[in-house]
Amino acid sequence: MSEQLDILCVGLSCLDIINEVSYYPEEDMDCRCVAQWWQRGGNAANNCTVLGLLGARPAYLGTIADSHEKRFLLDDFAKYGVNTDHVVEVGGCSCPTSCVILSQTTGSRTIIHANAGLPELSVDDFSKVDLTVFDWIHFEGRNVANVVKMIEVVRKHNQKHQDSKSITISVEVEKAKAELDALIPLPDVLFVSKDYAKFKGFSNMAETVEKIQTQAYPGCLVICPWGEAGATMGREGSELVKSPAFPPTKVVDTLGAGDTFNAATIFALSRGYSHSSSITFACRLAGAKVGVQGWEAFR
Ligand code: ADP
Ligand code: FRU
Repeated sequence: MSEQLDILCVGLSCLDIINEVSYYPEEDMDCRCVAQWWQRGGNAANNCTVLGLLGARPAYLGTIADSHEKRFLLDDFAKYGVNTDHVVEVGGCSCPTSCVILSQTTGSRTIIHANAGLPELSVDDFSKVDLTVFDWIHFEGRNVANVVKMIEVVRKHNQKHQDSKSITISVEVEKAKAELDALIPLPDVLFVSKDYAKFKGFSNMAETVEKIQTQAYPGCLVICPWGEAGATMGREGSELVKSPAFPPTKVVDTLGAGDTFNAATIFALSRGYSHSSSITFACRLAGAKVGVQGWEAFR
């Protein structure tokens, strides 16, 4: 009998090399950072960290390079109580890595990402996972052609298991990329980032939620976080629900703010909180996160 888990997050796990600087450097400058450290990153991996901290039983699913960074990533997942039994290890490629410049002056995070050929998760890999232990499956918006098929696998699973509780499907469209459009009509819960929204020509959260709702799955809950403006969510036919942001005394680290928001929303909705409580909880947690460095301070 497999372990009972709650939430499966499918997407990227990578190495973040954080360079904390007192102020953002000028081009061609030769400067020292205040501190430098490794952190496990990637949207789905960060979602799992936050879910683990909240006391959910998260599992991570994705590919991991069989390189020397693998031990660091897997040990760090374990530290936050994230199940990695289904991780697919791939030999002969390097670990995707982000060099992050974290400015002490503003808390901004500038990400330079490199992925030199780590293969994406296949539909076959996904189909091997026992879905019956999950209440919720969250997909990061990448690897689009395969994720479309993975969502079909979950929909078929739900049709076959109508007697038991069906699995809620959520997707995050974050990057400003047209290929992500294909994911909009598929999930029950859709997170739309402000970067993607701006790329589509929307200028605020309400406009984004209202316009995206018309293209979404019937009854889909569309959620749009927007930095210091907070977040808005809505379902076609009902009023929009909003929350302000909850700024900390000082913004020190905005890396993973969106990932924190998404994970906290999933946690709250999956525990049966109302829409209004869920979005407020997520803004509060994301606001607290940007006030501390990394995730350690949350433990
Ligand atoms: P991303 O990290 O993907 O760019 P956002 O900037 O939209 O995500 O932030 C996600 C959520 O994090 C926001 O809805 C807000 O609740 C919170 N947040 C982000 N930046 C701040 C900030 N400077 N002050 C308070 N809350 C913030
Ligand atoms: C933050 C993050 C980082 C990672 C990058 C990948 O949202 O997941 O941890 O380096 O984005 O795009």
